[in-house]
Amino acid sequence: MDKFLININGELFNEEKAKISVFDRGFLYGDSVYEATRTFNRIPFRIQHHLDRLFFSAQKIELELTYSRKEILELILQTIKASPHNDIFLRIILTRGTNIDLGLDPELSSKNNLIIITKAITPNPDWWLTKGLSMIFHNKKSSERGPLPKTGKYLENILAYKDATEKGAFDSIMVNTAGHVTEGTTSNIWMIKDNIIYTPSLQDGVLDGLTRKTLIQMADRNNLMLQEISLTQEDFLGADECFITSTTRNLVPVTIIEGRPVGNGLPGKKTLELLKMYLEFVSLQ
Ligand code: PDD
Repeated sequence: MDKFLININGELFNEEKAKISVFDRGFLYGDSVYEATRTFNRIPFRIQHHLDRLFFSAQKIELELTYSRKEILELILQTIKASPHNDIFLRIILTRGTNIDLGLDPELSSKNNLIIITKAITPNPDWWLTKGLSMIFHNKKSSERGPLPKTGKYLENILAYKDATEKGAFDSIMVNTAGHVTEGTTSNIWMIKDNIIYTPSLQDGVLDGLTRKTLIQMADRNNLMLQEISLTQEDFLGADECFITSTTRNLVPVTIIEGRPVGNGLPGKKTLELLKMYLEFVSLQ
């Protein structure tokens, strides 16, 4: 069985046959936006929210859409239907299109390319929950603020991830130029202190993660104390518990930051309770 099923502008391919032009602007300039999501038993997770964020990202980089929202949704559903798996990971990439020549001018391309890459979901390894993750801090060079668009520009995140793995950590916690903690390289970051759940404010240059949004909604419905505020490295080093979130990984405890244990150095009790609550909450959506 093929590992991947890929939809390129409405046509389905396996990983060997899926090809895109070297003149695609996503390839040439990172001139693209994307979403990463999953299905639960063939139902795409919060797809309308993912489409909202895709459109927000496109608008932020002035990427003119030649696909309608309805067409994008239909192609996503067509790909899910064609997949042999019930629980799949989906990467939905929309590039500004294929250039007719080299050059930055968006007018050089007339039509977007829409690529949907799917594969069976790989479950989180057990040790993530029994041992927890180790993270380091990484100072960002760019001074972006506000909710970030999800674009093909991930170089800073790639370098932050590389920095972490070279130092034996799982990932980096990125810090903005004002000294405020932002997020992981492909996840949002959280801490718990004295029973209050904290996550960095979107204003500090953070992706408006859908797991983050869902957790905030869940906390609100259950009267849990939660604050979205600017947080520093010291706040995280003094936290009782810490965890990351993303659509494909849910909540994962972080037990070591900069080589130092978070709280007692074990996956946090409240984090594991929140994970259980979250899984129940999303299955009811
Ligand atoms: N990334 N922050 C960044 C920089 C991310 O890339 C992601 C997700 C998140 C979490 O967002 P969400 O809860 O909507 O998944 C936060 C996915 C996993 C990816 O790029 O593959």
